[in-house]
Amino acid sequence: MLEIKNLTVSVDKKIILKDFNLNIKNNEIHALMGLNGTGKSTICKVLMGDDTYKVEKGSILYNGKDLLNMDTTTRARNGIYLVSQNPIEIEGVKNSEMLKIALESVKGKHYDVFEFSKIMNNVCEKLNIPKSFIHRGINESMSGGERKKNELMHLWVLEPFFILLDEIDSGVDIDNLNIISKSLKEYFDTHSCSILIITHHTNILDKIRPNYVHVLNDGKIVETGDYKLAQDIEKLGFNGTNNVRKKKDYE
Ligand SMILES: Nc1ncnc2c1ncn2[C@@H]1O[C@H](COP(=O)(O)OP(=O)(O)OP(=O)(O)O)[C@@H](O)[C@H]1O
Ligand SMILES: [Mg+2]
Repeated sequence: MLEIKNLTVSVDKKIILKDFNLNIKNNEIHALMGLNGTGKSTICKVLMGDDTYKVEKGSILYNGKDLLNMDTTTRARNGIYLVSQNPIEIEGVKNSEMLKIALESVKGKHYDVFEFSKIMNNVCEKLNIPKSFIHRGINESMSGGERKKNELMHLWVLEPFFILLDEIDSGVDIDNLNIISKSLKEYFDTHSCSILIITHHTNILDKIRPNYVHVLNDGKIVETGDYKLAQDIEKLGFNGTNNVRKKKDYE
């Protein structure tokens, strides 16, 4: 589904990713972990086509197509969806207005007001979001945790195929974290999709068990394991895991 090969990315003339490689197949969940500032959000932004981030070298194939040649709109229309680390406010544009237009564009058909309201009401119930959010401005005056859920509402309506979750768990209380995790698991189990989840904690990974856990450092993936690797990181830190794992698993 996704093949990132020898990707080198710079921002402001500083190299962030260097010969970065990652392959994700259909119906797989990959978790990406790493110290602050190692380039995890940068990968998400490059995958969405943010041109602040300059691709110096390398390639990205998405379902066999050259992703780097597509603009952001085309990427979104082709089912790539990012819940960004800090979702922005779009003042004056209501969730309902944007989502109806986006939904019709993605599905290629018209939805009447009743059909659309039904979809929105169901999603709000599933995510325990007040119905008043449907007509609020996108993330406008919403708290950090509310923004994450608002972005998840968009996901359920638009039904993307490749989902990038950049710290969807940060700043979210435990009850809402459970709702978010449960709903992501349900989405994964009922849709054909792949997920790249960036997190610093195992809590969300307890529920959405990833097939692979990767550690990013020095611009590339330096270690890959399963859920156990995430548990080791949480217990021992990044240096701790390298040493302990080297001894335990590779010697
Ligand atoms: N627009 C930008 N201008 C200048 N530097 C940037 C820009 N975007 C990212 N960087 C730098 O690139 C590096 C990687 O940033 P990135 O946001 O990808 O880190 P991260 O791994 O997501 O960190 P965190 O865990 O704190 O979210 C950092 O040193 C950051 O300061
Ligand atoms: Mg980040």
